[in-house]
Amino acid sequence: MYAVSLSAVALLASLLPTTFAQTTTACQPLNTTGCPNMEALGGNVTLDFESGYNVKIWQKPNAGEIKGTGENGTAFILAKSGDSPSLHSNFYLFFGRMEISEDLDEIDWEFLGSNNTHLFTNYYGKGNLTMGDRGYEYPVDESPFDDFHNYTIDWTKERMQWIYDDKVIREVKFDDALPGGKNYPQTPMNIRMGCWAAGDMDKNAIGVVEWAGGSTDFDQGPFNMLVKSVYAKDYTSAKEYSWEDMDSSGTWEKVTVIGKDEVSDIYKEITKAHGVDRWKALSTTAKIAILASVGGVLAVGACIFAFCCVRQRNAGRKEYAAFQAQQNQEAADFETHKEQWANRSSKYARL
Ligand SMILES: *[C@@H]1O[C@H](CO)[C@@H](O)[C@H](O)[C@H]1NC(C)=O
Ligand SMILES: *[C@@H]1O[C@H](CO)[C@@H](O)[C@H](O)[C@H]1NC(C)=O
Ligand SMILES: *[C@@H]1O[C@H](CO)[C@@H](O)[C@H](O)[C@H]1NC(C)=O
Ligand SMILES: *[C@@H]1O[C@H](CO)[C@@H](O)[C@H](O)[C@H]1NC(C)=O
Ligand SMILES: *[C@@H]1O[C@H](CO)[C@@H](O)[C@H](O)[C@H]1NC(C)=O
Ligand SMILES: *[C@@H]1O[C@H](CO)[C@@H](O)[C@H](O)[C@H]1NC(C)=O
Repeated sequence: MYAVSLSAVALLASLLPTTFAQTTTACQPLNTTGCPNMEALGGNVTLDFESGYNVKIWQKPNAGEIKGTGENGTAFILAKSGDSPSLHSNFYLFFGRMEISEDLDEIDWEFLGSNNTHLFTNYYGKGNLTMGDRGYEYPVDESPFDDFHNYTIDWTKERMQWIYDDKVIREVKFDDALPGGKNYPQTPMNIRMGCWAAGDMDKNAIGVVEWAGGSTDFDQGPFNMLVKSVYAKDYTSAKEYSWEDMDSSGTWEKVTVIGKDEVSDIYKEITKAHGVDRWKALSTTAKIAILASVGGVLAVGACIFAFCCVRQRNAGRKEYAAFQAQQNQEAADFETHKEQWANRSSKYARL
């Protein structure tokens, strides 16, 4: 099976199977000083993905091919074990439209390739990974994988919304995420999109494979996730965000906004029409359109498509190990929750 997750989060794993929470960070700003500043988007942009992506705007940290296909957007291709093609934006949003943060704040859309009846949403605050009350599954009438759809995250200090095409399918208010917004994502995030084989037996804990819907049969691949465009709007006008005054509270009030009347280099790069590379600015306001197409039969093959806004962009072996450990924990939590939910009649189960 494959899972696709779209998250605006803090750390949607740059490395690998980006699923569940991408909660690892090389410089944890809540208990460390000197974490690097983050380049602000500071405005709104539409990025066209028809002919690929701009390497000045996106980092590609993992294995797996990502290439433009023309009218159907950019394909994130999951062809073999170990692939987890993903892109992480070099810009950050401090509240915004679309997607996620480095102290492990995270907002996610997730798509399971083995499940075409539900959309999955999740969020994490400060890396708190306890499962249970944050995930939410939304039933859809038609398979989301047969066509392109807009997956939007609208994130303000007051509330965050997940919007499927034009419908708000979920809203979480600041105080809903524990009193005082303790679990509420509220620090600058970048956007992360990726696809991974959650059903890859060699890479994931058994609970993850089960969550994915079974073991991934790469012979039925490649599994593609297609992204047509990304719309991002930063609700803060700035050149940079800094952690210099951050403390263990992790609150938005402690984020330093630098250069309110200036624009960042990355914003200039993006808005430079028909700029270098193969990327071009569009005048339309397309949000995020995604088509996750499963080559061959579904059932097996996992692709997790993730959009996240993360502040942290470093990834390495250490993070990978931490991520795996986390996944194992989440897999265990998942099992517990699956049982709990199995005993309910609610149509919304949680992962
Ligand atoms: C800072 O927090 C991270 C993640 O929560 C943790 O792994 C690390 O050990 C902490 N470091 C210190 C110095 O407390
Ligand atoms: C930014 O937002 C404005 C106002 O909504 C809109 O007119 C403009 O087209 C947007 N720019 C981009 C690049 O999407
Ligand atoms: C885009 O996808 C459609 C539907 O699968 C297909 O008919 C069309 O040929 C594709 N376009 C390109 C340029 O691959
Ligand atoms: C899809 O997810 C929903 C919600 O968790 C679940 O009830 C359903 O059984 C899943 N379908 C498949 C085919 O796994
Ligand atoms: C983590 O979140 C759970 C609820 O999801 C909450 O019960 C717990 O107290 C939180 N832990 C911390 C350290 O905030
Ligand atoms: C997605 O958003 C774009 C721009 O707002 C719109 O043109 C398109 O019809 C939307 N697609 C869907 C499936 O809602």
